[in-house]
Amino acid sequence: MLRFFITAFVLFAVILSYLNLSMIWPLKIANNFKILFSIALLIIVCKDFILRLIFSGGLFTPDAPRWVIIAGSVMYAFIIIALFLLFIKDLAWLACKLFKIKFNADLASRVVIFIALCFSFYGTWEAVRVPDVKYQDFYIKNLSPELEDFKIALLVDIHASSLNRREFVQAVVDKTNALKPDLILIPGDFVDGSVEQRRYDLEPLKDLRAKFGVLGTSGNHEYYSGYERWFEVLESWGINMLENESVIINNNLIIAGVPDEQGKTPGFGFSTPFPAPDLNKALADIKPEDLNKMPVILMDHRPGNARENAKFKIDLQVSGHTHGGQMPGLAKIIQKVNKGYVKGWYDVEAELQDKSKHIMKLYVSPGTSQWGGFPVRIFDNSEITLFRLKAKN
Ligand SMILES: [Fe+2]
Repeated sequence: MLRFFITAFVLFAVILSYLNLSMIWPLKIANNFKILFSIALLIIVCKDFILRLIFSGGLFTPDAPRWVIIAGSVMYAFIIIALFLLFIKDLAWLACKLFKIKFNADLASRVVIFIALCFSFYGTWEAVRVPDVKYQDFYIKNLSPELEDFKIALLVDIHASSLNRREFVQAVVDKTNALKPDLILIPGDFVDGSVEQRRYDLEPLKDLRAKFGVLGTSGNHEYYSGYERWFEVLESWGINMLENESVIINNNLIIAGVPDEQGKTPGFGFSTPFPAPDLNKALADIKPEDLNKMPVILMDHRPGNARENAKFKIDLQVSGHTHGGQMPGLAKIIQKVNKGYVKGWYDVEAELQDKSKHIMKLYVSPGTSQWGGFPVRIFDNSEITLFRLKAKN
């Protein structure tokens, strides 16, 4: 913990110094305003720690009023975007210096501030609004004629929190039910906060309706939120949590689910490890002949294990976790730490035991909502995904 605070302190000091030197001091304004601007930046950079001191809840998920979290997010986004733009501005300044071209530092700083402000407001609005529906046709082998046009709604990364309150969750549920899905899949990150804190906000999930029910798996945030209790609550609301388990839908389609790997590592309030993801176990109860003749869809919260999962002849893996990368630049980093997967469709090739090749389709949803710690999306919409299954010849 001490290491975390020291790292955070050094990082904040570097960021603040750069913002002051590159953005504030070149401005042609009174020194008093510059000092006020610097103090405001200091408060913004430390906002998570300040909110934690004032309100209860977690470090990045304080129980602050929604407008406080949104306002804090706009300011935080301003800093992240400004850092990126200042870097470009300083490269331009260096080039001008090399080629002896006049550079107006005051104007450049004003342009950076203006653009960063516009994108921080837009990015926060994009992150907190109710998502649109994205329709996806999925062509699948061995699909029985009865399942042609079978509709599967995918909700992931709902992140009910002090940012995403009951009204938001209810709006997502109403929009999903209006699609009249045959099946609803929720592979993790339901909530940020304990059952006591967030039960009321997440409760509309019990109104989800689909002909073949609602299936879920855990995400990493469930383990930060007291998963043992959430498991019971989610099951009591009719969500069948698949923890290394499978179900057969309509005698024609296998849905498997593995828990998130965060449960393997004790911490965050639990001392006994939860089961690790184990696809062998998840498919153990399915007869080999059924596995050969029925399509298999897998829920795995993170996309990172896709190459291993593909070896099990999975037809489609659905994941989330990456939030689509949130914004250009950051998306590259998130893609790298998630083994190359960040958003949309991927073909994942695997060699099977008989040395034949198998291509598993992976769909990484940008998420239905956004984690309250950094709710910003730039050119990255959240979504409710609706898959329509189609027979592949
Ligand atoms: Fe996650």
